Amino acid sequence: MSRKPVVLITGAGGEIGHGLIQKLQLMGRPMITLDLVPIAGDLAGLVRQHYTGSILDKQILDRILTEYEIDLIFHLAAVLSTRGEFAPIIAHQVNVEGTLNMLEFAQHQGESHGRSVTFLYPSSIAVYGFANLQEKNRAGKVCEDLYNHPITMYGCNKLYGEQLGNYYCNYYKQLAALESSMRVDFRGLRFPGLISAQTLPSGGTSDYAPEMIHAAAMGKSYDCFVRDNSKIPFMAMPDAIDSLLQLASVPRKDLSRVVYNVGAFAPSVEQMKKLIFEEFPLAQIGTKIDEKRQRIIDSWPEDVDDSAARNDWGHAPRYDLNSAFRDYLFPKIKEQYHGTK
Ligand code: SER
Repeated sequence: MSRKPVVLITGAGGEIGHGLIQKLQLMGRPMITLDLVPIAGDLAGLVRQHYTGSILDKQILDRILTEYEIDLIFHLAAVLSTRGEFAPIIAHQVNVEGTLNMLEFAQHQGESHGRSVTFLYPSSIAVYGFANLQEKNRAGKVCEDLYNHPITMYGCNKLYGEQLGNYYCNYYKQLAALESSMRVDFRGLRFPGLISAQTLPSGGTSDYAPEMIHAAAMGKSYDCFVRDNSKIPFMAMPDAIDSLLQLASVPRKDLSRVVYNVGAFAPSVEQMKKLIFEEFPLAQIGTKIDEKRQRIIDSWPEDVDDSAARNDWGHAPRYDLNSAFRDYLFPKIKEQYHGTK
């Protein structure tokens, strides 16, 4: 029986999933979703079927394999960098074993339907790691192949996930008597910190940026846990979603890499605070440095060189620092909390 192929999203209940589901629905793409928790009420009507369960549960994956034909996977499920330092073994299970399960799943899907499955993998600036701040400052914008020495479990897991993706894409069972003609079409994106107006992240280390903005809009006080001069790249959520969809749609032959940096803007904490105080003059944002989380931020690059993504598939984020805050985050967040723009 021939079935219309669907998109599968793992970790669909997270921050990226939220916006991605809305966008795919507008594009008329049927989707199924998998997450540890039931799908949020506002998204439930947009997906064909939601599976509540884990990417570590092979039975669920087998069930999905038999019930649907899937041509595109967004593998979003992950344990982020701060949470991963409290539960490194769980992070490894979810981020590495879970990713391996999903790559096997994609390979089997491809083999049973006679065409390769496109596999989108959000990676992270956490795959980079500097020995000290001097090295970070000297490095400036980093390109993909340098400084791949992560200091977090999450960063190690993401870097290895990229390598596994490259293996499934280019070398899977290379010594088998009958080499598989069908390989997973793996595409990785190294995201900077993401900031959404709709949701708050949980368990990340770049969370200080969205937390400051949302707290100011809610009239709550907030102590930023890193120094004012800390600098890492960020991106507004709509651009992150667009870049995933854009990379998913490019013909493989136009891709010179398996994994791409994507950047947008790279503000210091001080620059972000200035914009927040301009919009919310009564905001109460202080600083209470958490040396351990600061160490993680200091190990991440101050910006990324994303020229490969710009050249190969036209990565061009809509929002820079000012427009992300003034045209996207502030109006949307105010609307959400106060019903006004
Ligand atoms: N936002 C992620 C984190 O902080 C980095 O990719 O863990």
